[in-house]
Amino acid sequence: MMQISDLPASYAAIHLPAKVALAVTVKPDGQYNLITIEWFMRTSIQPPMFAISIGHSRYSHDCLEENRYFNLVFPSMEQKDLLSLCGSNSGRDMDKFSAGDVQSFPGKLHKLPVLKDAVANFECEVVSQVRSGDHTIYVGQVHYCWQNVDKELFFYLERK
Ligand SMILES: Cc1cc2nc3c(=O)[nH]c(=O)nc-3n(C[C@H](O)[C@H](O)[C@H](O)COP(=O)(O)O)c2cc1C
Repeated sequence: MMQISDLPASYAAIHLPAKVALAVTVKPDGQYNLITIEWFMRTSIQPPMFAISIGHSRYSHDCLEENRYFNLVFPSMEQKDLLSLCGSNSGRDMDKFSAGDVQSFPGKLHKLPVLKDAVANFECEVVSQVRSGDHTIYVGQVHYCWQNVDKELFFYLERK
């Protein structure tokens, strides 16, 4: 029976299983940050584009306002702990690359780190953005893609 509900209950009913990603951004000092995100989507085939939605309170938001690049990383099953680390700590207080012992190499777009243990990395340049309440949606054009054919994509299955 369809009935009126509050938003958290309705959202909980539809949001699992959920894909999750990491976004690498450039800190104002030139170092790199990582954030766990669930709010992202592919938005164009040609040219290829992804959108990511980043909360105004996140350090990643400051980073994207200053440096207009991000690497959208699709994690592998073995990166679950890294997703927790990057989703519950701020880059204001921590270097998540060293805290998570992240293995990476410089990519082709402004040397954004490419995560070796991920399933795929998409190096993007921000081409537009729109404010969406307490988040900003950044639309990034993909310049370079990396794929690791040996890894299995991580996604959340468990129900709360
Ligand atoms: C599973 C999961 C999904 C998340 N999705 C988003 C998201 O789509 N956008 C966002 O701004 N924050 C999201 N967060 C919260 C950020 O990852 C978290 O606030 C992080 O500590 C911010 O890091 P920063 O301050 O270094 O940017 C998510 C967290 C988790 C655990």
